[in-house]
Amino acid sequence: MVQLTTTHLTLREFEPADWQAVYAYETDPRVAAYMAYSASTPEECQSDLDFLADQQQDAHRLLFHLAVILQSSQRLIGTCGLKITNRAVGEAELGYALHSDYWGHGYMTEAARAMVNYGFKTLQLRRIMGTCIPENTASIRVLQKIGMQQEGHLRANKIIKGTIYDSLIFSLLTNEWQIF
Ligand SMILES: CC(C)(COP(=O)(O)OP(=O)(O)OC[C@H]1O[C@@H](n2cnc3c(N)ncnc32)[C@H](O)[C@@H]1OP(=O)(O)O)[C@@H](O)C(=O)NCCC(=O)NCCS
Repeated sequence: MVQLTTTHLTLREFEPADWQAVYAYETDPRVAAYMAYSASTPEECQSDLDFLADQQQDAHRLLFHLAVILQSSQRLIGTCGLKITNRAVGEAELGYALHSDYWGHGYMTEAARAMVNYGFKTLQLRRIMGTCIPENTASIRVLQKIGMQQEGHLRANKIIKGTIYDSLIFSLLTNEWQIF
């Protein structure tokens, strides 16, 4: 079981009992506007958490999606995680979302740094990528602040809630990662 600690946050494995907090940020309209997938019913949330519980036990685990807990209140405020996309290469994709009540405090930059560190140091990944639409300036800044560089701009390849967007591709390689 994975648990990471940063200055303000604890990143821990999701549990089935977390569904209400997950439902709160996934149905937050400001969050859902940027997510290709977000649960829209309590049942979808519960089923997603069951899937993650199975992943936690899987010897060939591909999803390392963790709950982001604010230490000062012990509230679950979002998620940050890695999805292994190519095991032979050692490539994973970083993903995250935070309830909008907590935006702008540096929390996701803090969480993403810890997750990337775990990916390179513990999972021995070679390459971590991040992707977002050009309109998502906060996400672009998170990726830049953890040291990623933009390597691509794909035109009209993403659909979010029925609208087609471009997407930006960022990446960070293990030899570029500064130990902190
Ligand atoms: C992207 C997201 C996780 C950022 O979380 P956060 O904890 O607010 O990010 P941080 O506080 O670490 O800030 C990172 C940068 O984004 C900026 N930022 C934060 N909220 C912003 C907003 N609403 N609009 C523009 N910039 C914003 C911050 O100012 C900071 O940049 P700076 O250092 O240049 O000032 C959050 O906005 C979110 O959950 N968005 C919806 C879901 C999403 O987009 N997920 C990623 C899909 S690719």
